Amino acid sequence: MVIALIGATGLVGEVMMRVLEERKFPVKDFIPCASARSVGREVFFRDKAYKVRSVEDGLAARPDVALFSAGSATSKKYAEAFANAGCVVIDNSSAWRADPTVPLVVPEVNPHTVTKDTRIIANPNCSTIQMVVPLAPIHRAYGIRRLVISTYQSVTGTGVKAVQQLQDERAGKEGEKAYPHPIDLNCFPHGGDFQDNGYTAEEMKLVNETRKILEAEDIRITATVVRIPVMGGHSEAVNLELEKDFSLEAVRHLMQQTPGVVVQDDPANNTYPMPRFVEGRDEVFVGRIRRDPSVPNGLDLWIVADNLRKGAAGNAVQIAEIAREVRSRK
Ligand code: A2P
Repeated sequence: MVIALIGATGLVGEVMMRVLEERKFPVKDFIPCASARSVGREVFFRDKAYKVRSVEDGLAARPDVALFSAGSATSKKYAEAFANAGCVVIDNSSAWRADPTVPLVVPEVNPHTVTKDTRIIANPNCSTIQMVVPLAPIHRAYGIRRLVISTYQSVTGTGVKAVQQLQDERAGKEGEKAYPHPIDLNCFPHGGDFQDNGYTAEEMKLVNETRKILEAEDIRITATVVRIPVMGGHSEAVNLELEKDFSLEAVRHLMQQTPGVVVQDDPANNTYPMPRFVEGRDEVFVGRIRRDPSVPNGLDLWIVADNLRKGAAGNAVQIAEIAREVRSRK
């Protein structure tokens, strides 16, 4: 397949190249694209140097699949043109996620929403992806009534500039700022812009995207997104209220049986998932599985994943694999 990568010079774009290599995605021709300031720069894919092109050049090459990870504005501007040219667009931005005609896909959860005619597929927000992988089987078995989510998100989730800010602060250097506050030795309850309802954009993504992916508009959800001085890997404390009663053994067994989930839950030996140890992994790690006795059918989980892998590039490439498989069907 001819693959275009829009945002090839970004953090997620770089990881997308590595995941395409690792998963041996059949790439006949590779077209890396970025903004005008990067045109002509080289990126390396499968040990070969490729010159970065403009998005217009990428479109003119008529790729089979375009992986977009260059922000919402770029996706809004170009995704439809690629789709109209017969390309399958897999978009990592929030531009198309709320569109009812665009599937929002986590391959372990709702691969059935991609059909032969699908042209634009939205990749969910990083914190939503890692959360719904373990939550989907719980919802199917017990019904989720309400979720209270608190996230602990790393700086790679914000992009290159945020990583640089944390590195500059640690080195005692002045530099460009991605955040309104120092991030080192700090944390702030602020991810994305504040909305009229007092929540941030990242918090509302968790609410709306979870409902769309689980096809459950009536789940009550509240979220607080916190940025922490961790380089990579997002963590989430998730409190669930379920419709049906459960046993912890059954939930633990269900998690162990869920594709894409690794259970790390042995508190007596200090074993629980941590962001430092999930780097480069495509699975979602679940621990601290325990009953919340303060409400009927209450459950607590601690969920950690590599936000650039499962949370972005890994999920996007998995979607590309589904799109390829669906298109090859008679
Ligand atoms: P560039 O490096 O030329 O700015 P990150 O989120 O890690 O900062 O990466 C963002 C990615 O999106 C980069 O590859 C960046 O390219 C790309 N990008 C940003 N704005 C545009 C644009 N207007 N057109 C095409 N690519 C863009």
